Amino acid sequence: MEPGDRQTTDHIVEMENISKRFGEVVALEDVTLRLRRNEVLALAGDNGAGKSTLIKCLAGAIRPDSGTIRIEGEEVHIESPRDAKRRGIETTFQDLAIAGNLTVAQNIFLGREQVTGPDSLLGILDKGSMRERARELLEDLNIDVDVDAKVSNLSGGERQLVSISRTLLSDPDIVIMDEPTSALSVEGADRVLELINQMQDQGISIILISHNLDYVRRAADRIQVLYHGHSAGVIDETNVDREDIVSRMIGGLPEEERGEGGQSEDAVSA
Ligand SMILES: Nc1ncnc2c1ncn2[C@@H]1O[C@H](COP(=O)(O)OP(=O)(O)OP(=O)(O)O)[C@@H](O)[C@H]1O
Ligand SMILES: [Mg+2]
Repeated sequence: MEPGDRQTTDHIVEMENISKRFGEVVALEDVTLRLRRNEVLALAGDNGAGKSTLIKCLAGAIRPDSGTIRIEGEEVHIESPRDAKRRGIETTFQDLAIAGNLTVAQNIFLGREQVTGPDSLLGILDKGSMRERARELLEDLNIDVDVDAKVSNLSGGERQLVSISRTLLSDPDIVIMDEPTSALSVEGADRVLELINQMQDQGISIILISHNLDYVRRAADRIQVLYHGHSAGVIDETNVDREDIVSRMIGGLPEEERGEGGQSEDAVSA
């Protein structure tokens, strides 16, 4: 996150020609996604279009069958979610990976014990300081949830907020949010929008998946549409015609953009 190391490439993430099958199902075929430094890139697409699969390849939860991933211009093989975190990538998954029988504070620190420190010291980080750090984090984010509450007793929306807050604990470069607002009220979703803006102000680059197109248009700098595992183009202006997004979602790449491999998003340069 140092401002100094920001000039290597325009794109903090380049995923190129990513393909992934699950048995007979082609979840992704030759999909390219490029995330510009410090932008909010939304991923839109119908159910089953491949959005979660694509971001899971970046989050280390899925290994693509083929394709390359570059971070800061350097090719990487992301082995696991922990590996992704180590590279500065934090994710809130659609299928919330949250442990119901633990407290909010324990969830925020879950799986992070060995990641944060250079030695074993943090492995024995005492409960008191984790609890205090979790409390500060939620307070900073203006999230009104008790750190000692059992997650199983929280509402779906509160869980989503906790899950989003977790991503910010490690000062990430890249945050991926897969349907972060699906269980949230209008106010909750607005809160997350503020959080997204706050993250962007801190220099974080963000990938946002949402079915709510009006939300996506408010939050994102660019919108990439997926259609049946293929890219249906990237839309540059945030005020883009809603109909245009919808027609890409249900019909794929428009006729006039075909024949360019469907990956012409960066023809218009950054
Ligand atoms: N682990 C899996 N095993 C088998 N098939 C899978 C698996 N994960 C995803 N798929 C299939 O891959 C395709 C893409 O799924 P994916 O979850 O990426 O879609 P999505 O765009 O995130 O959809 P939604 O908007 O409903 O979340 C779907 O056909 C889905 O059934
Ligand atoms: Mg999904």
